[in-house]
Amino acid sequence: MPEVPPRRSSSGPKKQSVRLWGGRFASGPAPQVADYTDSLAVDRRLYREDIAGSTAHARMLAAVGIITAAEGRAMERGLAAVLKEMAAGTFEFQAGDEDIHTAVERRLTELTGPDVGGKLHTGRSRNDQVATDLRLWGRRELVALAAQVLDLQTVLGRRAEEVGDAYLPGYTHLQRAQPVLLAHHLLAHGWALSRDVDRLLATVARMDVSPLGAGALAGSSLDLGPDEVAAELGFASRFENSLDAVSDRDHVAEALFDLALLGVHLSRMGEEIVLWATEEFGFIRLDDAYSTGSSMLPQKKNPDIAELVRGKTGRLVGHVAGMLTTLKGLPLSYNRDLQEDKEPLFDAVDQVRLALAALGGMVASAGFDLARMRQAADGQGAAAVDLAEWLVGEGMAFRDAHTIVSSLVRDSIERHVPLAELVEAHPALGGEAVRLLEAGVAVTRRTTPGGAGPGPVAEQLVRYRRRLEVDGERVGRG
Ligand code: ARG
Repeated sequence: MPEVPPRRSSSGPKKQSVRLWGGRFASGPAPQVADYTDSLAVDRRLYREDIAGSTAHARMLAAVGIITAAEGRAMERGLAAVLKEMAAGTFEFQAGDEDIHTAVERRLTELTGPDVGGKLHTGRSRNDQVATDLRLWGRRELVALAAQVLDLQTVLGRRAEEVGDAYLPGYTHLQRAQPVLLAHHLLAHGWALSRDVDRLLATVARMDVSPLGAGALAGSSLDLGPDEVAAELGFASRFENSLDAVSDRDHVAEALFDLALLGVHLSRMGEEIVLWATEEFGFIRLDDAYSTGSSMLPQKKNPDIAELVRGKTGRLVGHVAGMLTTLKGLPLSYNRDLQEDKEPLFDAVDQVRLALAALGGMVASAGFDLARMRQAADGQGAAAVDLAEWLVGEGMAFRDAHTIVSSLVRDSIERHVPLAELVEAHPALGGEAVRLLEAGVAVTRRTTPGGAGPGPVAEQLVRYRRRLEVDGERVGRG
């Protein structure tokens, strides 16, 4: 993670500091004001994007003749030097660096002198600047996360291939319903993740608009070239309306929703891992490297990762509500409230990145207890609907078939007689129908395209792999 270590040249209590906007004011802000309003601790993470935006802006200023070519070159060199210091962690932040924009401009001016550094902010405001920085950052990070989602999908796909025709009970209402292939169950999670990839990339497309040139809110009297700046920064287009450009944080709200829903998917996987790892289910054995112990109980092996994935999703959901609430009452255009966009976005991206990595390792390394799954799936009721559907094949209405089989199931439970015996003895069913109750037969009868049996799952795996390939290209892993 590109982080700048917190170095401040001044020690001791904070002095009243000089600000970019100091000219209008007789004094600097009170220390409490700086403490409350400064955003450097959060937004310094945007230093690469901030310098990229400033470099593009400087090139444009030189290209349109607002500054000379020599000034443009000096500015670019200075910005490159600032980048180097920040990347190396040698950059010294100072009291008065209220945000990353101020810090970069202040240092540039030290390096190049005020005649050059003092021209960087020509035709620009921190309002269009910060909007640009965050779009650049978000665009890159969301694509990287989408690629990481693909990694988890790949793990699920590989595990699905490995387990072949193994099956387990499928559940509704957490009651055993019908046997399904384990591969089918794993791929169900994989397909949900493919929608997350879609959503992240769709959000990136809406992020891919340059706000630079909008100024504080209305553009400028200078002959700026926002199209050129947009192209230089690799944006798909520039803003259409300067007021909208500095006010719009839709992409942040969307990204937070995408990440919350992705989190919900991971959380649901986490919940199943927790269940499956219990002695009661016993479907999964967690690898030592991906489980945790108890400080008191020597025998414990806990699925803490899966629980945290579930638990931290609460935060992700909270960020969506928080961001929308921040936005809902804002008049056009920029309001300082918008500074509250970064913390939730950074946190959501960080948390989802960590969750994907940890959960991916957990799923990749877990051992499946296939015998236990099979045993649970071969219970008496597993093939009940197959008996009814067999009767349908014999020409009976499904409702009548359902009534016959359900009364046999009840009989079997109440009189403690094996279902197979009752089926064999029933005039409409008999010996051929009994074969449906044999272990492992029911799951083979799930033949519907997209269904849970071996035929459709083999086909599904082909489609799944193809989808991963296509999405791999979409995230730049062609
Ligand atoms: N720290 C601010 C933010 O993140 C930068 C923009 C400040 N603009 C202003 N007019 N005070 O939104």
